[in-house]
Amino acid sequence: MKLRRWMAVGAVAVATVTALNTVPATASRPYDPTAQSLRTLALRHGLQIGTAVDMAALNNANDPRYRQITATEFSSVTAENVMKWESLEPTRGNYDWAPADQLIDFAKRNKQTVRGHVLVWQNQLPGWLTSGVEDGSISKQELRELLRKHITTVVSRYKGKISQWDVVNEAVSDPWDNPPTLHYKGFWAQHLGPGYLADAFRWARAADPKVLLFYNDYNIEAFGSGNPANDKTQFVYDMVKGLLAQRVPIDGVGSQGHLGTQYGNYDTLQVTDALKRFTALGLATAFTEVDVRSEMTEAVQAGDSAEINPRLQASAANFSVLMKACLAVRSCISFTVWGFSDKHSWVPTWFDNPPEGLATIYDENYQPKRAYHEIKSDLIFAGPPYVLPRITPKPRR
Ligand code: XIL
Repeated sequence: MKLRRWMAVGAVAVATVTALNTVPATASRPYDPTAQSLRTLALRHGLQIGTAVDMAALNNANDPRYRQITATEFSSVTAENVMKWESLEPTRGNYDWAPADQLIDFAKRNKQTVRGHVLVWQNQLPGWLTSGVEDGSISKQELRELLRKHITTVVSRYKGKISQWDVVNEAVSDPWDNPPTLHYKGFWAQHLGPGYLADAFRWARAADPKVLLFYNDYNIEAFGSGNPANDKTQFVYDMVKGLLAQRVPIDGVGSQGHLGTQYGNYDTLQVTDALKRFTALGLATAFTEVDVRSEMTEAVQAGDSAEINPRLQASAANFSVLMKACLAVRSCISFTVWGFSDKHSWVPTWFDNPPEGLATIYDENYQPKRAYHEIKSDLIFAGPPYVLPRITPKPRR
């Protein structure tokens, strides 16, 4: 983008920020960016900042802060569970749209975009589907038809209301799986073969010509050895490159960003490099499920600050690495956290041996943690010439 055009965008953004800032800046009381919400600060970069939403928490009248923060701090929402197949079609042929519709309405009222999650995944499938395949009452041919129908039905219903769909989620194995050589894993690959990926994107595109279609996965924040047999990022890179070569309508790659402080993880430039390589294929990028968990040792659980503080700091640093990399690459159009408060996080239930937690940007009492402050600082301090507004992708036909 030319400098003049950038300045025009900047002026609009500043005007918007000023309009949203209820207290006018004066000489004695200058404009204070730290008092702004994440969504206001992200606006200057054209970046959507999102959270996964737990519908039970959103509807709990005794937990008003959850609803308030969801509405005020974020410009995008993702259904944590209610758009998964088991929630949408618990019994065959009967769709329960109510909770998903509720989230769509909430987003509309709060001028938020919606990331659709998820159309094709091996987890949280309805029991009638998996047991039908298992006992042979659903044939392979029928299964493929059921998938086509599911994608078509769901994408059509929310046509025009969703900005990005996670079309396929977590299709690739991990080095710790058996066999360790990376491969297409799970229910869909097993029963339909890897061709289901291309089919799924084509069916989604047929149902909505304008929504952005994403492949979404974890542990693809940075490249490793470069050998697709053991480097998941390389495997996914080769996979999407192959899909594009077959003219499959895929628009973006979502990097979930589930990190843990015990692993050490990445520096900003490693992550930036990965985003750039996906961008060079002509794809949009996004962080879609960011959280940074820590081991809850006995001392942590007992409240020992000498153990807690380094974890909070390491978590903040990891959040910041992903945010900085996203800001640095103009194809990175959204940054979504997988829940914003330790009061409502999937981590303690899913990672319980050893127990893990402290993964989000607010504590259990909705007090912002270092991670919140750090990503807010990143949004404040970033700007030209190195950080420029996002480039809006055109949906592929
Ligand atoms: C998780 C939810 O957060 C939990 O509430 C649910 O019990 C299991 O699924 N990757 C994904 C998400 O793509 O859908 C998962 O969400 C977390 C991992």
